[in-house]
Formats: sequence, C-alpha cells, structure tokens
Amino acid sequence: MQQHKRPPASLLFIFGGSGDLNYRKLSPALFKLFIDGWMPEKFGIVGIGRTEYPGNSYHDRLLDGITQFSRRKGEQNGEWAEFSKHVSYLQMDAESEAEYQKIAEIVKQKEKEFGEHPNVIFYMSVAPWLVPDILKKLGPLNICADTKCTRVVVEKPFGHDLKSAQELNALLASMFDEEQIYRIDHYLGKETVQNILALRFANALFEPIWNRNYIEHVQITASETIGMEGRGAYYETSGALRDMVQNHILQLMCMIAMEAPVSFDANEIRNKKVDVLHAIRKITNEQVHQFAVRGQYASGWMKGEKVSDYRSEKNVAPESPNDTFAAVKFYIDNWRWQDVPFYVRTGKRMHEKATTINIQFRPAPSYAFPPEAAETWRANRLTISIQPEMDIRLRFQAKQPGQSLSLTPVDMTFSYKDAYEGQEPEAYETLLLDVMEGNATLFMRADQVEASWKVIMPILDTWNNRPPVDFPNYAPDSWGPEDAEALIARDGHNWITLASK
Ligand code: BG6
Repeated sequence: MQQHKRPPASLLFIFGGSGDLNYRKLSPALFKLFIDGWMPEKFGIVGIGRTEYPGNSYHDRLLDGITQFSRRKGEQNGEWAEFSKHVSYLQMDAESEAEYQKIAEIVKQKEKEFGEHPNVIFYMSVAPWLVPDILKKLGPLNICADTKCTRVVVEKPFGHDLKSAQELNALLASMFDEEQIYRIDHYLGKETVQNILALRFANALFEPIWNRNYIEHVQITASETIGMEGRGAYYETSGALRDMVQNHILQLMCMIAMEAPVSFDANEIRNKKVDVLHAIRKITNEQVHQFAVRGQYASGWMKGEKVSDYRSEKNVAPESPNDTFAAVKFYIDNWRWQDVPFYVRTGKRMHEKATTINIQFRPAPSYAFPPEAAETWRANRLTISIQPEMDIRLRFQAKQPGQSLSLTPVDMTFSYKDAYEGQEPEAYETLLLDVMEGNATLFMRADQVEASWKVIMPILDTWNNRPPVDFPNYAPDSWGPEDAEALIARDGHNWITLASK
C-alpha cells in the first residue's frame, strides 16, 4: 500500500445510502481511496436509507456495485473485508425528526472508539426535493454547529431555478457556515478539467495569446449517446440546459476564461471564476432565439439498435416540451474576451460520447506563401479532450514532404495514456478526499451557483413561456437539430468534432 499524508479521522453519513449514486460512484470511489492508502487511519461510513438490509446484505450490495463500477474490481486480496468493517447501515425514516438522534448517538460512539472527535460529513445523495427537509431536521443537531469539523455535501441539481437555488442557499446558511458547505459539480473533479489550470497558468506559452487578439472563438461540446436510462422522472424536471449547461458547461467556460489566480486558495480560485459568470453578457428574452437552440430526440437508430423517442421513455409525458439538447452562444464582456463567441452544446442520444473544448485561433496572414501552397491552410486550434479521450492537441501548419511547397495541418498531441502510467483518479475519488481534507477549491460557492442560474434564467423563462412547436427535432446518432448548425454557421463557423479537420 502506498503511503500518503492521510486526512484526519472522518465519519461519513450518506443520506441515500441505498441509492444509485452510492452504489455506482461513492462506495467504489471510497473503496479505491482505501486501497490506495488515502482513507483516514480512523474512519466510518454510515449509509442511511429507508430500505431494509438484513444480515450482510448491505455489504453485499455495495460489493456488487464495486465489482461493476470500481476501477479496482472485487474483493482485492482481503482489502474489501478490511474496508467493509468500517461500513455500516442505518435504517431510518429521514422524515421523522426523532430518528435524527440516532445519528448523534453514532457520532458519540465513534468518538469513543476513535479516541478523538472526527470530521463529521453529511452527504446528501438523495432526490433534490428531499434535501431541504433533511437539512431542516439535521441542522438543529449540536454537531452541525461545529464549523471546523462538520461538513455537508450537496449534490446537483442545486435548485431548479434561481429562486429555488437562493432559497436552498439561505436554508443552508441558516444552519451552516459557507466553509462547511460542499456543493458538488463532479466535472470539477475530473483530472482533465483540473489540468486546464495547469495548462494555462503553469506554462508561459499560452497565456500571452489567450485573449481576443488571438482567439477567434471557443467551442465546448458535451455530447452523450445515452438516453434516459431510467432517469426520465428526474429529467422531466430538468432538461439539458439545467442538467448540463447551468453547472458543468459553465464551469468549463469559467476555467477557460478566468483570469490568473494569485494563489490556489479556494476562495481566490472561486472569485476568479465568479468574475467570469458576472461578465457573461445577459441574453434578453427577445434575443433568446438568436442565441439559444433547444432540441428533443426522435426515435431512430443508434449504432444498429432501434431506440425510442424521448417522449416514449419511462416517466416522460407523451407531449413533453422538455429539452434533451441545448446549444447556446455566449459572450463575455471584459477586456480579455470582448466579442469572442463561446459556443456550447450538449445533448443526449448524440453521435458520440465526448466532452471537448476547442480554442480556435485567428488565421495567420498567408501573404508570403503562394496561393496553391496555402489551399489546405487551417488556423491554429487547441483541442482539450476531457473524455473519453484524454488529451490536448495543438494543430499547426507543416510543409508536406515533397518538391512542391504545400502546407497541411498536423497535430502535436499530449495524451494522458501515453505520458503517465497508471490510471488517473475518478472525479468522485478526488472530491471525496477533498471533503475529508477540508479543501473546497473544487466545490461551488453559493454566489457561483446563483450567478450561473442568473446566466441561464432568461433562456429557461423564454423556453418555458413558448412551448416548442417542432419537437422531436433531431434523430438519434446525430449532432442535434439543424438550428444548432445554423446558430454557429451564421457567424461563419462550424461545430468541431473529433473527426473534423
Ligand atoms: C450528470 C447529469 O450531472 O452528468 C447526467 O445529470 C449526465 O445527465 C452526466 O449524464 C454526465 O457526466 P459524465 O461524467 O458522464 O460526463
């Protein structure tokens, strides 16, 4: 086992202990941290849920999730047996106030066992509408007043719109200090996303040209091939704009557009990001149709398999106006980015699963070369592939070998796979470790969440008030509706895919 500085003693309560997120992500991540020697010397994990788990069946269920989803499968030479000693299940009705005393008792008991007061972490891995009620019952426990050691982790979606996000923030603020609150956006835990800061600020090469003088436009695509996968009920209350743009995509945009931080202090980084959100040009209700496009997938074929339309998915209304695709053009009004468009798009049932950021540079003046040499001339482009490919590619011109002078674009590529041995940590491993260590850099602050809701509210309101007339409007296995092509083509650009030159 590798040796690291471990986080202090921690006791983690997972509300939604019997749920899908714990099964697929949290427990596999915690187990992986354990195997790699990152868990505290003293720790306890308590899953909380309504479901009954007689005997060993809770452990069996978690092991099943780990076998399916952890990068370290199965029992791992007895390490599971060791890990599972720290894991227990508390069956309780989260709606009954009296039951919360059970939590206080477990904390006391663990304090005795550990011989010290541990960090106490409450992870809200439950449906969003249950969160306020749980917080109201949890907040009055004495333990929550301990601003140093007690933390609460809130999953997305954080609110449903600006108003509900403000209400949730106010509720949290009435019981916890901001330093105790960890709002998760799992994209921020991805290695490739964190690397954007290294790329920009640990190299002298990029920053001098990282502005409107050299960059023509920026594109962010987060496309998925999956449909609803049983999440229809949630998705009906969300849609692509809320589910992906309000959080993940705006966060990526902040990483690309922020000014250089003066330190890696959590608040310093978050201040710089929130500045970007405040500088995003407000889209008025009247402008929404020029700046935003929505879509919903039809039935059709996906890699040889017949798939149903969105409206036929389980728990989706037969005439649902909900968006499964969204594309938006943003501008950031500041000295660095004035008039540089940021095109973003995301959708379900699209042609490929890929999250990529393209920085398209302005063309070089080509006067010195004969016209035939420059026929295949392309402007420089930096492509940051977040997933599933994890690489950074810089496109530049090269002379094609031969007696004639002909220029073609070539790529210089940094690939994680080739450069580093071993696998990079999963986002949830990074984020859970940060919570135990008390490092909030990769988490959303209250004002960040509200600022990003403010950015998308005019689009949400306008779409809400004008039901779509053309849904479903894109085929599965495509790149979304035609209007999304028009959105960018009007400015003389194309959406860039991994295959495009
Ligand atoms: C989640 C969304 O936040 O992110 C899902 O709710 C989406 O709808 C998922 O599928 C995408 O995450 P990733 O890490 O697979 O890109």
